[in-house]
Amino acid sequence: MSSADDSQFRDRPLRSFGRTGGRPLSPRQRALMAETLNTWRIAEGEAPIVLSELFPGKAAFWLEIGFGGAEHMITQARRNPGTGIIGCEPFLEGVAKALAGIEETGAGNVRLWPDDARPLIARLPDQSLDRVFILFPDPWPKRRQHKRRLVQPAFLDALYPKLKPGGHLRFATDVKSYADEALLTFLGDGRFEWLAAAADDWRCAPADHVTTRYESKQLGDCRPVWFDFRVR
Ligand SMILES: C[S@@+](CC[C@H](N)C(=O)[O-])C[C@H]1O[C@@H](n2cnc3c(N)ncnc32)[C@H](O)[C@@H]1O
Repeated sequence: MSSADDSQFRDRPLRSFGRTGGRPLSPRQRALMAETLNTWRIAEGEAPIVLSELFPGKAAFWLEIGFGGAEHMITQARRNPGTGIIGCEPFLEGVAKALAGIEETGAGNVRLWPDDARPLIARLPDQSLDRVFILFPDPWPKRRQHKRRLVQPAFLDALYPKLKPGGHLRFATDVKSYADEALLTFLGDGRFEWLAAAADDWRCAPADHVTTRYESKQLGDCRPVWFDFRVR
């Protein structure tokens, strides 16, 4: 955020992501950032976002929070050409990978917010999102770090109004304490109906899931769990 107005920082949520930079970008990645990011990024600012202008002719709108290496987002965009997908990711290399994915696949139905998803969510119209993906969010495994986890009651308060009634949200993690905490948070909220009817519904990856490199590394302390919710 580059605004000098400090009002936006007063109630700023704790940072839910780790590093935004890592190893230096490759020359190709640097060129993509310099030459194509402006084509695909959502402009900074506080103006409300008009999805029909962002995605002319699209019938549905999805949001992926923390797309990482962008494998899931780009593949979903290719599979669902009638859908506009906003991807949020503050990690620079992830953004560069998304740009490479757009270039390689021609997925023109993606728009990027290379930053914390939360200020972007605040700018979305109410009842505008058909689907939200929160896949393997930063686990913050130590107890004293749990307050940095993205899924918290205040976050659901901000996100819920932006989802259409009947819309869907998918949460996945391979960290047991996050799985427990997130499920309790969603169910305790009362506005998200858990769609699992049998254990395999949360133990097995959903049929439309796209496995990412991060997920394949299995860095957590349990097998992945998949929680699909319908918005009441
Ligand atoms: C552990 S990675 C998983 C990436 C990807 N979802 C996957 O499954 O491969 C979590 C990602 O979420 C991003 N993230 C964390 N908090 C975020 C936030 N508030 N807004 C947007 N992205 C966020 C991090 O930068 C990180 O790249």
